[in-house]
Amino acid sequence: MQRRVIPPREGEKNLVDYEEVRKNFSFREGEKFFTWSRTGKANIIYEALEKHVAEGRGDSSALYYSDGQRRENYTFAQLAELARKFTGVLHSLDFRKGERLAIFLPRSPEWYVTFAGTVRAGGIVVPLFEAFMEEALYDRLADSGARILVTAPELLPRVPLERLPQLEHVIVTGEEGLPGTLSWQEEMAKAAPVAEVTWVDLEDPYLILYASGAEGVPRGIVHVHYGMVGHYLTAYWVHDLRPSDVYWCTADPGWITGIVYGFLAPWMHGVPVVIRGGRFRAEDWYRTLAEYRVSVWYSAPTAFRMMRQEEHLLAQYDLSSLRHILSVGEPLTQDVLDWCLEKLGLPVYDTWWMTETGMNIICQLPALPLKVGSIGKPLPGIECTVLDDEGREVGPNRIGHLAIKKGWPAMFRAVWNNEEKYREYFRFDPWFVSGDAAYYDEDGYFYFQGRVDGVINTSGERVGPAEVEKKLVEHPAVKDAAVAGKPDPLRGEIVKAYVVLETGRELTAELMEELRNFVKTGLAAHAAPREFEAVGAVPRTADGSIDRKKLREWVLGLSKPD
Ligand code: WT7
Repeated sequence: MQRRVIPPREGEKNLVDYEEVRKNFSFREGEKFFTWSRTGKANIIYEALEKHVAEGRGDSSALYYSDGQRRENYTFAQLAELARKFTGVLHSLDFRKGERLAIFLPRSPEWYVTFAGTVRAGGIVVPLFEAFMEEALYDRLADSGARILVTAPELLPRVPLERLPQLEHVIVTGEEGLPGTLSWQEEMAKAAPVAEVTWVDLEDPYLILYASGAEGVPRGIVHVHYGMVGHYLTAYWVHDLRPSDVYWCTADPGWITGIVYGFLAPWMHGVPVVIRGGRFRAEDWYRTLAEYRVSVWYSAPTAFRMMRQEEHLLAQYDLSSLRHILSVGEPLTQDVLDWCLEKLGLPVYDTWWMTETGMNIICQLPALPLKVGSIGKPLPGIECTVLDDEGREVGPNRIGHLAIKKGWPAMFRAVWNNEEKYREYFRFDPWFVSGDAAYYDEDGYFYFQGRVDGVINTSGERVGPAEVEKKLVEHPAVKDAAVAGKPDPLRGEIVKAYVVLETGRELTAELMEELRNFVKTGLAAHAAPREFEAVGAVPRTADGSIDRKKLREWVLGLSKPD
């Protein structure tokens, strides 16, 4: 098949010769960029923050934060000092290495200070996306066994505290203390800064991120400090970061992208990050790019499309600082690429990875010809393949399970409390089975072909159909429900629900609105179905589980409900 190809980028780039670097590359070579390779003392936050202070770069900018009300800039030294104070708060609460602290906050400087202060104390952070409601919060807080929760006054009412006996302390941001909670500001004001970093084993966890699968409750994906080797190298090769850059990754820190590339990886390179709080508005985003002179921008197809919808604003802003644009999380469609080429004068480089991989895995790279429609090639040190249902490699141009040979540095090391689920990913050992379908061509470029398992990807957010189904059947009008991702020109996919209603109930506009709100307020806004259809029965396989293949046919219009 003849594919459109954009030639490699001319001029300076960090990774110049992909084939040459790939030859015999081992990630062990990346260890030399870290102080622990000389001192033996390791902590990911030390390498991201305090190292810069220790090496005399403390006055460089680290964080440019803005939202509707606040506008704050922080240097590495200032952030490091705040993080030390937060560690002090944790010491006063007798928080120990290996314990879990959950962050349920909107994007704000407090989010990043809390994260840094916890991880440098040897703690494990459990980020909770701002849009989560009671059930989603309960599942994650209960499973992680978090002892401390840091949240905001407007989010606190959603947390079912009475059902979470292991949660000992709730720290709330905002000036006023709420009964039964500690005030973030007050605790910080009285805390004694703790200068010592808690040194960890490189295989110790620092992060548990819950990711949805097709069935059951979300899994706690466990990441360890050693992952920094992969963060550092991918930020160098793929994001092409240099000290003079201003980097903006638009992902929320409730997800892996907003953590690894939102701040950890750029900070390891001493590069300042832009964080924009508040809801998405195309105009704010254009202004943010221009005001901070963003040079490297990491975002997602749905966001690019939303920017395009208001492209008339382009003329008002000077975006000439942009030099590299990357995309993640959903298929990068040609219309998006063409828009960026035409309006911003730059191609968009696709990057494929997932919560479980902890770092970019298959990417379009400035040094390689960009084959349009492909997600690119596996990075140096990484081997990918495509397997059939029995775990055999299928060779080029055959669709199958996208798999990665285990052992890359930021690979998840466990599923929290669920050894069996972890082993399932490695059922074709030594391959990690991603859950995505893909093929590769004769030149070794990979092509994403959707999820294998019915997990929904709406606006780049991963939604587990079973969680939505479980919520829907709690509603008195719903007897049974099945949920699938329906292709959508703006959002990639939308959540579509097929519902079997109780006798006498009808799927009126009011009921649809009620069901949508029921999911929105009980589980999470982004998981709420945008479309409903009443059916006589939900398709099931012989063992009684929902027939995801059949559902897929339904949403694609290939077959119809009986
Ligand atoms: C799923 C992982 C860490 C990345 C952000 C989402 C889909 C990811 C791409 C891409 C098409 C992509 C896959 C993957 N995905 N990148 N470049 N093109 N699809 O992380 O929430 O763990 O979701 O996102 O289906 O399995 P996540």
